[in-house]
This record gives sequence, structure tokens and C-alpha cells, in this order.
Amino acid sequence: MTRDGEDAGGSATADGFEAADPRRLRRIRRGYDAWARVYDWFARATASVGGVRTACVDALGLDPGDTVVEFGCGPGVNLPALRGAVGPSGRVVGVDVSPRMLDRATGLVERRGWGNVSLVEADAERPPVAAADGVLATFVTSLLADPYAVVSRWCDLADAVVLAAFVPEGNRAANAALRAFVALNGRLFDARTDDPLGRLAERTAAARRALDDHAAVRERRRRLFGTIAVEAGRGE
Ligand SMILES: C[S@@+](CC[C@H](N)C(=O)[O-])C[C@H]1O[C@@H](n2cnc3c(N)ncnc32)[C@H](O)[C@@H]1O
Repeated sequence: MTRDGEDAGGSATADGFEAADPRRLRRIRRGYDAWARVYDWFARATASVGGVRTACVDALGLDPGDTVVEFGCGPGVNLPALRGAVGPSGRVVGVDVSPRMLDRATGLVERRGWGNVSLVEADAERPPVAAADGVLATFVTSLLADPYAVVSRWCDLADAVVLAAFVPEGNRAANAALRAFVALNGRLFDARTDDPLGRLAERTAAARRALDDHAAVRERRRRLFGTIAVEAGRGE
């Protein structure tokens, strides 16, 4: 694993992109470090639910030999499908701020013996990679302070950007479950407000707007009773 600034298979950016609030980032890191083991188990157990992860990787339209970056890769649940899409001649870079999450992902990469999957401890708001064929971020944009700016930046660096996010626009039961989940995870979502679901919706909408404004081709799919949106943007 590498830390921000070391060689990650891409070149470091030097565009002066505004630094994230370090306290907020530390809070996210602490939270996900603490939950890494449980999150890893949960994410793997639910990896095939709703076909969300497969749909995301399909939507990237990757070819063998491509380079793909996953921001907020967590314990690496998407890595097998990403590695499968780019093959042994491609390159996968997983970026996360949580060292414990990256430890889980590193274990997976070592067990599978993938030499072309790199893991980087870095802030997705200041991408450590300058160019890629595809960018994936699943359940991450609700954690960004300014999703519009960050997703716009990702659109500049890749031909295809795919996002998955919870959307509080499903049916009543799904919304109730999502509300409980967000309330429980309020600190992580940075959503300690009277309206955590509203905050989540705002951030998801901002990320979606960035794709609308920067991508020539847009695709949108709903999964899992309408509670998860898979948003894809390609080319300009
Ligand atoms: C809800 S988990 C999603 C993990 C994985 N993408 C998945 O679908 O299972 C969010 C992940 O994003 C990471 N994260 C949050 N903000 C980040 C940032 N600014 N830069 C890099 N990683 C970030 C967290 O550490 C955590 O691992």
C-alpha cells in the first residue's frame, strides 16, 4: 500500500485543488477504521444484493488493459469485478482515507495475488491519480463536503465516472430503513442535523448534477426497490 504522494501508478496532481477540512476527514477515518472489520463482513455478505456492484462495473464500460480508480474503495468489495474487467494487463487503483479499510483490501489483493491492483491511502477530494479510463465511487459521495466540486474533478480525470448512492426516494418502507441507517451513521455522513435524509439527498443530488454538467452521455438506474441510484457519465 502507498500513501498519498508516493507512486500509485498514476501521477500526483498539482492543481491546487482545495484541501478538505482535516477534522472532518479525521472523523471519517476514525469512524471507518473502527468499523472496518464489521463493514468488510457486511459488504461481502451483501455484495450481490440488488446487482448493484455488477451494474456499476458494467456501466464503466471498461476494456482489458484499462486503468480504473476506485475512490473510497473501503475493504475492496468492488475490486474483484474491477480487476476482472481490466484483466491482468490493466490497472486498478483503490483509494481510501481509512488505513484499516485498506488493510482489509490489501489482504484481499494478496490472497488473490493481483500484481496490478494498487491501494493508496489518500483523500478522494484530492485525487492522487491524474488520468484514468474509469472512476468508480460507491456509497462515498454522501461523505464529501462538496460533492459537486469533487465529482466534477473526477469527470476531468476519467472518460467514465460511475457513482452508486442511497437515494431517499424509494418506497415508504425503504425510506424508513434508510432513515434509520442514516440516523445511526449520522457522524459518518456528517449529517448531524434534524434532517439527515435531506442532507444525504442534497449531497447525492449535487454529485448527480456534476455528472449532468460534465458528461456527454448519462445513464441512470435504480436498484433495490429504488433506494440505490447507479449514475454513469461518459465523455464530453
Ligand atoms: C460507505 S464506505 C463504502 C466502501 C465501498 N466503496 C463500498 O461500496 O463498500 C465509504 C468509504 O469511503 C471512504 N472515504 C470517505 N471519505 C473519503 C475521502 N474523502 N477520501 C477517500 N476515502 C474516503 C471511507 O473511509 C470508507 O472506506
